[in-house]
Amino acid sequence: MSGPVLVTGAAGLIGTWLRGGLPERGWAVRSLDVVPIPDTRPGEEQVVADVTDLAAMVEATRGAAAVVHLAGLPTEDTWPAISHANIGGTYATLEAARRSGAERVVLASSNHAAGYAPRPAEGLLTEDDAGHRPDTYYGVSKATMEALGSLYADRYGMDVVCLRIGSAIPQPTTVRHLATWLSPTDTVALVDAALRAPSPGFAVVWGVSDNTRRWWDLTAAQALGYRSRDDAEVYAAAVIAAHGEPDPDDPVLTRVGGEFTTEAFDADRVEARQAQQSGREEP
Ligand SMILES: NC(=O)c1ccc[n+]([C@@H]2O[C@H](COP(=O)([O-])OP(=O)(O)OC[C@H]3O[C@@H](n4cnc5c(N)ncnc54)[C@H](O)[C@@H]3O)[C@@H](O)[C@H]2O)c1
Repeated sequence: MSGPVLVTGAAGLIGTWLRGGLPERGWAVRSLDVVPIPDTRPGEEQVVADVTDLAAMVEATRGAAAVVHLAGLPTEDTWPAISHANIGGTYATLEAARRSGAERVVLASSNHAAGYAPRPAEGLLTEDDAGHRPDTYYGVSKATMEALGSLYADRYGMDVVCLRIGSAIPQPTTVRHLATWLSPTDTVALVDAALRAPSPGFAVVWGVSDNTRRWWDLTAAQALGYRSRDDAEVYAAAVIAAHGEPDPDDPVLTRVGGEFTTEAFDADRVEARQAQQSGREEP
């Protein structure tokens, strides 16, 4: 592939990891975000644009070899906000890639596309077995992201790799994270594999480190060339000392989406909380 990789949402948490790690793996990076990136690196191109603006996205994608799409709302929000940023943004990203001739798009999907999928009685859960069981409007936007990716792969012959990311955070802080953590180093390795794999076509893979307690199958990600180097188990003693021994029947630990499947993440509650924060009266 020639040309830079366009990274949308590049100012965010994962974007910052990729802006550091992808150049070390030989990729030139063109960073796009709705906010300016405060610490661009030598050789890094920068575009300030809204990912839902198709014309701006076509311009930003010109000459790019591939796109890594991270931009959007990273947690539950109201339906208008989620559908605009996450579904509208994914559409504009894929359509811009098609129009500009970028043949590969890596999409930051989420475990919340399959949040209500239960832990299997034994063995590891594959992406296919989990299916689409979104736990929130956010999860619906990620299931839709995968559906849009499938459409662009089938209709236009593009390579589209969807990463169902678990918990991409600096280090695990809850018992659930001991299963779902995707370390910063492994995040870069997974995106690199998704960019490098020969002709992946359309693929959906879990994004998780090789954690001792993981119950998501890594076979599909490994088929892309992903090799995890980290295991959340090194944090287990400290996390369990802080939070207590895990209760095996706690739904937070037996459903893919964890706490997103609980009442606290009901969209009405999220909306009410936001209304309170902005000083609006509840109807
Ligand atoms: N961090 C995780 O654990 C995790 C897990 C699963 C999936 N993901 C997904 O990975 C992606 C990145 O997550 P993150 O944790 O880095 O989130 P983040 O909030 O740190 O970064 C998101 C970035 O997107 C930008 N953005 C938002 N709306 C935009 C728009 N309309 N146009 C351009 N830029 C816009 C923001 O300014 C921000 O810099 C998200 O799509 C998220 O849903 C993250």
